[in-house]
Amino acid sequence: MTDRRSVVITGTSRGLGFAAACHLYRRGWHVLAAMRSVDTGLEALRAATGAGDDDPRLTGVALDLTDTASIEAAAKSIEAASGAPYALVHNAGISAAGMVEETPDSLWERMFATTVFGPVALTKALLPGMREAGRGRIVLVSSQGGVRGMPSTAPYSAAKGALERWGEAMAGEVAPFGIGVTVLVTGTYDTEIITDAGTTDCRDLAGVYAPHHATMDKRGRAAMRMAARSPEKFAAGLAKALDSTKPFVKQPVGPDARMLMIANRLLPSAGLHQMTRLMMGIPRFGALGGRRNG
Ligand SMILES: NC(=O)c1ccc[n+]([C@@H]2O[C@H](COP(=O)([O-])OP(=O)(O)OC[C@H]3O[C@@H](n4cnc5c(N)ncnc54)[C@H](OP(=O)(O)O)[C@@H]3O)[C@@H](O)[C@H]2O)c1
Repeated sequence: MTDRRSVVITGTSRGLGFAAACHLYRRGWHVLAAMRSVDTGLEALRAATGAGDDDPRLTGVALDLTDTASIEAAAKSIEAASGAPYALVHNAGISAAGMVEETPDSLWERMFATTVFGPVALTKALLPGMREAGRGRIVLVSSQGGVRGMPSTAPYSAAKGALERWGEAMAGEVAPFGIGVTVLVTGTYDTEIITDAGTTDCRDLAGVYAPHHATMDKRGRAAMRMAARSPEKFAAGLAKALDSTKPFVKQPVGPDARMLMIANRLLPSAGLHQMTRLMMGIPRFGALGGRRNG
């Protein structure tokens, strides 16, 4: 099936955004590929898809979500290239490891700028055109951390949780204009974000949280390696999600995300806390009390 709709995807330089841009291009979409390094990124997308330099269905858009001027310029160039886009996929993201006490304020600010403030600003810039067109879909790429806060990922979990609440609220506002919102609770996929190199590491492995880190590191990495699926599977899930005509959808992409969403519905919050603690090997309640700092 060919599809002539236009889709803006953020974070298309690599990972899930790259796979999604290739997949949707091949299905006939006009892909507006937003990324920080547009020259190299667009070249890589052309090489992967076989698109020519002047292909009107693959447009590069320079976008840094932490920079207001860049967001404004990106919105203008999107509208110049495609008018009001049919779909807007907020995919770009960053990850960080470390306990709340270990993560600096600057990281919290960058996390929220990338995951919430930047995407909100881009959405606000594009919504007038989308409303006027009377159709469209906004997809928010969330995570298991957005469903349930996970230890050692507080800034990430908090920002993804905020993203989900933003999407739920906005869905109620834009539905009468024919615009639907989808929250994609994304499972584990084999991209840089799940590697040490792709994560900002704030952990103090010799500090007061050393007993947590010791087991979490091993168990977390092993679980991720086992669960990680190919980014193309995510891209296929996203393509299906873009075909929805419902005003609001929250759905998993991947079996681990599906299982967590079911557990989150069935188990009490305190039970999930215990389950997480046991799975991650975190010391029991009170076990480290009275220890000296430093
Ligand atoms: N992979 C997983 O297992 C998984 C699981 C759950 C949720 N997710 C979510 O899926 C989304 C994509 O992640 P991924 O796995 O593809 O990770 P990735 O390979 O690390 O890619 C992240 C993308 O976000 C972009 N980005 C980061 N900061 C940006 C900024 N300030 N402005 C614009 N773009 C920025 C990166 O661009 P640069 O190349 O310029 O850095 C890159 O294109 C994220 O929202 C992530 O939270 C992923």
